[in-house]
Amino acid sequence: MSNAAVSPQLPTNFQQKDNEVSEQKGIRLTAPEHTAGKAGNGQVLVEARGLQKSFGARKILRNVDFQMNKGDITVIIGKSGSGKSTLLRALAGLTDPDDGEIVVDGQTVFADKQRTKLWDGVRSEVGMVFQTYTLWPHMNVLDNLVLAPRKVRGANASESRERAEAALAEVGMAEHILSRPTQLSGGERQRVAIARALMMKPKLLLCDEITSALDPPVAAEVLDVLRRLKEEDGIAVALVTHDMAFASKAADRVVFFHDGEIAVNATPAAAFNNSDNQDLKKFVDAVRF
Ligand SMILES: Nc1ncnc2c1ncn2[C@@H]1O[C@H](COP(=O)(O)OP(=O)(O)OP(=O)(O)O)[C@@H](O)[C@H]1O
Ligand SMILES: [Mg+2]
Repeated sequence: MSNAAVSPQLPTNFQQKDNEVSEQKGIRLTAPEHTAGKAGNGQVLVEARGLQKSFGARKILRNVDFQMNKGDITVIIGKSGSGKSTLLRALAGLTDPDDGEIVVDGQTVFADKQRTKLWDGVRSEVGMVFQTYTLWPHMNVLDNLVLAPRKVRGANASESRERAEAALAEVGMAEHILSRPTQLSGGERQRVAIARALMMKPKLLLCDEITSALDPPVAAEVLDVLRRLKEEDGIAVALVTHDMAFASKAADRVVFFHDGEIAVNATPAAAFNNSDNQDLKKFVDAVRF
């Protein structure tokens, strides 16, 4: 499975930098007020069963069972190196698990240690946004957005431009359609990166620490965009983040990854207030101060 098959528009050097848990210092987590909007309708969009993945002798995904519902924001938390990005990449088709099954929108896209033929039909329903800005600096916003649809789907220029205008409007960036990425702030670039993922009209948006490099108010704007997308378009969002404030307020589900397994999958209130999982408690305490 090559990255190019999924996201031909991505530069290949999108290294994720280590996230600093200390960025979250000072955030209070007790008694979170759950302010998420309309949650999904309870229909399952993604199901992973028994995912296994090793790098060399190290087991990274041990036995991951994971479910996401349509129209939900699922926040994935866990220690650095616990396998969060590996899980997202497996769902996006950027990395293949060693074993297990992945079902997206009723289609079994991974089974018997390989991608199935159904993956081709589902691929465009899965968008991914990364921590670092992955826009091509030498192209303006419009060209960044239309590159994949034109190359992959052979979409024509006017259809692609219309779609780009709609996607940029969804993230509040319509007036920047002819700007170059270097003329945009970090938050604006991430909103463009989300718009680019929306070009394929995904049902599932996988976001890997997309606000980690942003100041808190700018990060909040980007997260607001995700909330609107789930509320207005019913997109399911999986968000890996160290932003516990967002996790406690805006998530429909909180998934705590520990030692290659999903140790807790609960509502934010249950995860942060009532969980008797000691590893989650330790993790939350570590990021609280
Ligand atoms: N392609 C790879 N080759 C070898 N090891 C890898 C590869 N990708 C990930 N790993 C290792 O797998 C482990 C889990 O990585 P992963 O990126 O999924 O963690 P993470 O939970 O996203 O961590 P972080 O919060 O730091 O982003 C890490 O120890 C990492 O070094
Ligand atoms: Mg990661």
